[in-house]
Amino acid sequence: MNAVQAGPKFVVTEASGVWLWDDQGDRYLDGTASLWYCNVGHGRREIADAIHSQLLRLEAYTVYGDFANRPALELSERLADRAPVDDPRVMLTCGGGESIETAAKLARKYWASRGHPERVHLISRTGGYHGLHGIGTGVIGMERFRSGYGPMVEATSVVAHDSVAELEAEIHRIGPENVAAFFAEPVIGAGGVYAPPDGYFERVAELCRRHGILFISDSVICGFGRLGNWFGIERFGVRPDMIVFAKGVSSGYLPLGGVVVSGEVAAPFWDQPGNTLLHGTTYAGHPTCCAAALANMDILERENLLEVSLYVERDLDRALRGLESHPAVAEVRSGTGVMGAVQLTTEAEEAGISAPAVFREARRRGVILRAIPGAVVMSPPLIITTEQIEHLVATLRSSLDAVSERAG
Ligand SMILES: Cc1ncc(COP(=O)(O)O)c(C=O)c1O
Repeated sequence: MNAVQAGPKFVVTEASGVWLWDDQGDRYLDGTASLWYCNVGHGRREIADAIHSQLLRLEAYTVYGDFANRPALELSERLADRAPVDDPRVMLTCGGGESIETAAKLARKYWASRGHPERVHLISRTGGYHGLHGIGTGVIGMERFRSGYGPMVEATSVVAHDSVAELEAEIHRIGPENVAAFFAEPVIGAGGVYAPPDGYFERVAELCRRHGILFISDSVICGFGRLGNWFGIERFGVRPDMIVFAKGVSSGYLPLGGVVVSGEVAAPFWDQPGNTLLHGTTYAGHPTCCAAALANMDILERENLLEVSLYVERDLDRALRGLESHPAVAEVRSGTGVMGAVQLTTEAEEAGISAPAVFREARRRGVILRAIPGAVVMSPPLIITTEQIEHLVATLRSSLDAVSERAG
C-alpha cells in the first residue's frame, strides 16, 4: 500500500485472448494469465453468454441441506468424472483459500469421526502457497506471510519441498498417529515454480498411505490444463485423498473453487447419522459461477487445451533456457507445466537488478510478468502461440539488459 499509494495506477480496461489494454490505450501481453488463472484466455464470449443466460434463469441460490441447482450438480459430476481420486465427491467453494480451509477441516473432522481426534497435525512444504485464509496462512511454506498476525492455527509444520526423508523424519517426530494430512502443490507455483524431484510424489504417496496420513494435492494453480491434465497431480501417477482446485476451473471469469474428496474421507459424513459437517459458505455452489466453469471446461475440451498445453510448455521451456547464460540469471526453472521462473543472482540483486525492477521494465515494454522475491515468474494463458512466447522471452531478455545497464 505504501509503495503504490502515491504513483499512478495501472488501470486495466480491456482484455482479449492473451492481450490486455490499459487506460492509456497501450497493449500488453498477459504473461501471467492474470494471477495464474486465465487458462483459456480473456474475452471468451461463450463464457460471458453462459453467465448471462444463467443469471436470467437462476442467478444464485443456496446449496445448504438438500438444496441444489443444475449447474452445480453438472459441474460436480464433470469434475468427479475427471478427478484422479477414488469414489470422488465434490464440495464447491468460492476460491482457493476457502477450499484449503475446507480440506483441512475435512481432514481433521474425518479423523475425529473415525475415533482419532488426536490426529490434527498438518504438514506442508517450503515454498508451498495455500492461500491467505486462517488455516492456509498457518500451513503456508513462506514465513513472511505468517508474521505479524499473532498465533496461527496449532499443530502445523513445514518440511523441505524436495525431501521425502525430511517428511518421513517429521512424521516420526510428530508421531504418525497425530498427523492428519500432508499438503503439496504438484508444482510449487507462487513460491517460485519448483517441480518435484523424480519419483517424489510416488514415494510421498506411499509414505502417507503407510501411515494413514491424508494426502491433499493443492492443484489451485496446476489444474485445468496448466500441467497438461485436469488436476496437475495426474502427471506424477498418484491418487490423492483430496484435491483442492480453483483458478483455472473457471479461468477466473467468476470466482469458484472446491475440493474433490475421496469416498473414504467423505464416508463418515455420509454414513454416520448426526455427524453433520457444519462447514460451508453462502455462495458455495453458486449457479452462475458454476455455469461459467462449465463453459470454460467446454472450451478446454473442444480446443484440446490439455494436450496443447504440453506443446506450450515445451516452447516456453525452450525459449526460457536461452536466458540461462544471461549474467544476471542464476537459474531458469521451467519444463513442467505452462509456467516458468527466472531466478536472479544474488550479485545482480545487490547491484539493483531486482525482480520488481525487471517486472516494471517488462511492463513498460508491453509484457506482464510477476515479481516474487529473487525471481520473475510467468504462467501465460494456455492459448499463447509460439511467436507470442518468443516475444515474451525476448522482452524479458531486453528488460534484463536494460535494468542491468542502468545498474551499471
Ligand atoms: C496453490 C494455491 N493454493 C491456494 C491459493 C489461494 O487461492 P485464492 O487466492 O483463490 O484464495 C492459491 C492462490 O494463488 C494458490 O496458488
